[in-house]
Amino acid sequence: AGGLDLAVIGGDGIGPEVTAQALRILQAALVAEGRPVAEVTDYALGADHYTATGQTLTDEQLAALRRHDAILFGAVGAAPHDRAVPSGLIEREILLRLRFALDHAVNLRPTRLYPGAVSPLAEPGEIDFTVVREGTEGPYVGNGGSLRSGGEHEIATEVSVNTAHGVRRVVADAFARAAASPRRRLTLVHKHNVLVHAGRLWRRVVDEVAAEHPEVDVDYLHVDAATILMTTDPARFDVIVTDNLFGDILTDLAAAVGGGIGLAASGNINVAGTAPSMFEPVHGSAPDIAGTGTADPIAAILSAAMLLEHVGESAAARRVRAAVWSHLEHRAATGAEVRTEVVADDVLARLAGEATPTRRA
Ligand code: NAD
Ligand code: IPM
Ligand code: MN
Repeated sequence: AGGLDLAVIGGDGIGPEVTAQALRILQAALVAEGRPVAEVTDYALGADHYTATGQTLTDEQLAALRRHDAILFGAVGAAPHDRAVPSGLIEREILLRLRFALDHAVNLRPTRLYPGAVSPLAEPGEIDFTVVREGTEGPYVGNGGSLRSGGEHEIATEVSVNTAHGVRRVVADAFARAAASPRRRLTLVHKHNVLVHAGRLWRRVVDEVAAEHPEVDVDYLHVDAATILMTTDPARFDVIVTDNLFGDILTDLAAAVGGGIGLAASGNINVAGTAPSMFEPVHGSAPDIAGTGTADPIAAILSAAMLLEHVGESAAARRVRAAVWSHLEHRAATGAEVRTEVVADDVLARLAGEATPTRRA
């Protein structure tokens, strides 16, 4: 069989900077495992492309993207002061369109405090949990509008859409992950005291799927309380299942307690296997540090490891994670400041070295 066929969308700001490094490491890990290098097709999408062409993502580009085995994504989004690009246009028409069109029902966002990673919490404990965020529904669908726009009587609505089908497949995926984890714990995070209709649907589906998984210990938290426990006792969490918007907010918090947004990886998973899955750091284009060479590439590198795992290259994925782990221990020991390329060089050196990843990674 030939090598992996990958699409790469670097995007804007630090997106292309961290993606380039993640790609180097992905290729090196494949080679180190005696696997063929991936064939890579670059898609130059994002704010610059939009400014130059007026296009965000064409139907032809979407059709072409669909044919790859997987997509490695950086970040998109213009700087807030860039008035040439309407707010959120690039994010919605590229990132959200891809998640919706490629049916990325499950947005997988693991948080693990690696040895060497520094949590802002005084006593973080053993942080190792995964947020299974719904990826194609909720308030993200753009179902809303504005009445009497512009005046004191304006009414703006954003309607959260939750379908039994959509909720069931993300909940089923989360239960399968909880059942396979040593702690076998699943926490539903919602706000059913206020969001009555969606809350009822999520609880019903969780109850139904729970009946098929008596081995999984299920609990529930309102999202506001979940933010308290994620900062005071993050070690209590194993698998969290939640809707698209709660999941977005919780996973920036999760990244912060787990050593920083520069380390947080994610995968947008097509659970039906009908289109490629897409892997990206949780962070955005960080216009404040773009071009300074100081973006941490670890989130992108760990996203590449998730990609490798997803396409069945588990040994290469393990190798990347072990190299990152070792790099972070080195970083903690030396207090070295983060330089994008220097970090990637160091990960690469550890990956290529004879250090076979025997530790759990
Ligand atoms: P952001 O994640 O880009 O940045 C938040 C803060 O984290 C900034 O201070 C930034 O410097 C820092 N940061 C982010 N990644 C880092 C890294 N790898 N290393 C070191 N520091 C890092 O969030 P934002 O500022 O709210 O958004 C900026 C733009 O990115 C907006 O246009 C937004 O819509 C977009 N965005 C895109 C994605 C995506 O493409 N997946 C995700 C989030 C935000
Ligand atoms: C993320 C981002 C996106 C989201 C934005 C840029 C649309 O914040 O991937 O977490 O809200 O999902
Ligand atoms: Mn986000």
